[in-house]
Amino acid sequence: MRIVLVGPPGAGKGTQAAFLAENLSIPHISTGDLFRANISQQTELGKLAKSYMDAGNLVPDEVTIGMAKDRMEQPDAVNGFLLDGFPRNVSQAEALDVALKADDVKLDAVLDLEVPEDEVVKRIAGRRICRNDSAHVFHVAYKQPKTEGVCDVCGGELYQRDDDKEETVRKRLEVYHSQTEPIIDHYRAQGLVVTISALGEVAEVTERAMSALKQSD
Ligand code: AP5
Ligand code: ZN
Repeated sequence: MRIVLVGPPGAGKGTQAAFLAENLSIPHISTGDLFRANISQQTELGKLAKSYMDAGNLVPDEVTIGMAKDRMEQPDAVNGFLLDGFPRNVSQAEALDVALKADDVKLDAVLDLEVPEDEVVKRIAGRRICRNDSAHVFHVAYKQPKTEGVCDVCGGELYQRDDDKEETVRKRLEVYHSQTEPIIDHYRAQGLVVTISALGEVAEVTERAMSALKQSD
């Protein structure tokens, strides 16, 4: 399956993507995680991306689209993938349409996670991620690690993301409404959008997502 996950910052895309990708045996491709890996390895791409991310803005399409396409061309993504955080504006969605068409494949669904803004703010404020891998995600109240400040998966140190500060979160939400939400209409016109509520326990949301994806099949 080829799936795009959309939803505001803090909706739980990364959290759900980990379970959905495992259930569906497809790789989880997160452009945010790819940028964060570049930042921790101090690559040129990481240095460029950091300045945009810290301000809550989108990283320019010129670098983002190439990075996402390179990842989608890896052998593990030949038969499907779950995209998280890409595409994030209409021009990225159009670039993805062109790339898929060139490979003669199609998206199966665009899963839209709906969460009220006050919940998103609570989820982001309490989020802690692992220094070794930003896909290892915890929450001070909703998903506590066994040992405070330590990643259950790899033992790495947990910290708060630089772009999770209140003013940056406000900017990210604004960017989501102005630039990312329009992709939902772009995909609605292709009949691909499935909207679910992302409120409730993590496992409940996964179940809701799995049954919505089955129905859209
Ligand atoms: P990115 O990393 O994609 O961030 P985002 O879209 O803002 O999403 P988040 O990672 O904040 O949240 P999430 O929905 O994954 O929630 P999570 O599962 O962690 O992007 C960061 C930046 O990179 C962008 O601002 C931009 O600069 C750049 N970028 C990335 N992609 C780009 C692109 N394509 N183009 C240009 N720039 C790009 O959950 C949040 C918290 O809630 C966690 O603590 C979790 O434990 C908790 N939680 C999850 N589910 C539940 C639940 N059901 N109940 C209670 N708590 C829950
Ligand atoms: Zn870890």
